[in-house]
Amino acid sequence: MELMDAKKEFKAIFGADAEDLFTAAGRINVIGEHVDYCGGKVFPAALNLRCNVYGRKTGADVIRIALKGIEGIITLEIDKLDSYKNLKLGNYQAGVAYYLQEEGTPIVGCDLFYDCTVPFGSGLSSSAAIEVATAVTLSEYAGVAYDKVKLALLSQKAENKYAGVNCGIMDQFASAMGKKDHAVLLDCSTLAYEYVPLKLGDYAIVVANCNKPHNLVESKYNVRRQEVETALKIIQTVKPVTCLAELTPDDFNEVKHLLAGVVCKRAEHVVMECARVNEAVKALKAGDIVELGRLLNESHYSLRDLYEVTGKELDALSAFARNETECLGSRMIGAGFGGCTISIVKKTAVEGFIRRVGKAYFDSIGYRASFYETSIEDGITVTKL
Ligand code: GLA
Repeated sequence: MELMDAKKEFKAIFGADAEDLFTAAGRINVIGEHVDYCGGKVFPAALNLRCNVYGRKTGADVIRIALKGIEGIITLEIDKLDSYKNLKLGNYQAGVAYYLQEEGTPIVGCDLFYDCTVPFGSGLSSSAAIEVATAVTLSEYAGVAYDKVKLALLSQKAENKYAGVNCGIMDQFASAMGKKDHAVLLDCSTLAYEYVPLKLGDYAIVVANCNKPHNLVESKYNVRRQEVETALKIIQTVKPVTCLAELTPDDFNEVKHLLAGVVCKRAEHVVMECARVNEAVKALKAGDIVELGRLLNESHYSLRDLYEVTGKELDALSAFARNETECLGSRMIGAGFGGCTISIVKKTAVEGFIRRVGKAYFDSIGYRASFYETSIEDGITVTKL
């Protein structure tokens, strides 16, 4: 939505002018999937797909929220912020406001219009973008100094405890801390991070949404978390580790016999994926995009066979991508069970890639995939209008 249109819509809804624009990013993850909550390293990057919040401070005792494309206004009373957990829309915003208030940030009444261009349920972290954008908005309106990493942690807490999704820190961190044209190598056990230029030479990253209808992703996600926690507890009876990411593939081979069935498969994915992240970063820094692509494929196979979070749609989309001669690798990103893939494709071949993969996917699945024009941008932005 263009700035002029957003300002007009804001005025039509709230009867006054928007004064500020706060944004936070959706993200891709180059590699390191389902390892953030196991203390592993992840490698996300912030996108041009974002949650845009147009706002004005009112000083009233409510936060009023309007969402693009949805009729009506959601009103959150500032002294009742703990009572909106069951809202279908507005609960992420309420959760963030609630925890900011709990940590001592004075919540100031405001009117907010949300234009979120991160597709919902796409695995590109629309929820993190909404949370982080809200956290910045309310911190700015409170007039307090804030630390972006702390806002990411607070946003994660809101998602875990208020919205009830037991996610790791990757999405909120990328949304807040992303940097233009860089991926963030984040160690989720210490929150130490490093920006690595996402330089792919003649290649581009193509983001594709399989458009599978959203279906119980949160509950399946929470089950995976329990399975890896079970694995960790068993391994801790023989090895003094604090998280699965501390195990090398060799360490894992020593203890593998203690684990059975899916618990063993889940843990194996985590350990091998952590090793792949290190290799992928090395490959990228050395400009070896072919090797990076190979590691993306390996990651997908592991998410398919060991972690079992892909499904026929993501498998088809990434397999059709891999069939293309100008594609070096493809994998699902995010929680899985639907959502997006990323593929590394020769820049000059992107158009044909989208056409052919799109058609093959439609012919085999029966509905269309979406392809997005993306770029890697900063996480948070703050603009006076
Ligand atoms: C979701 C979660 C993240 C992470 C990914 C899988 O996006 O929000 O914390 O666990 O799934 O890597």
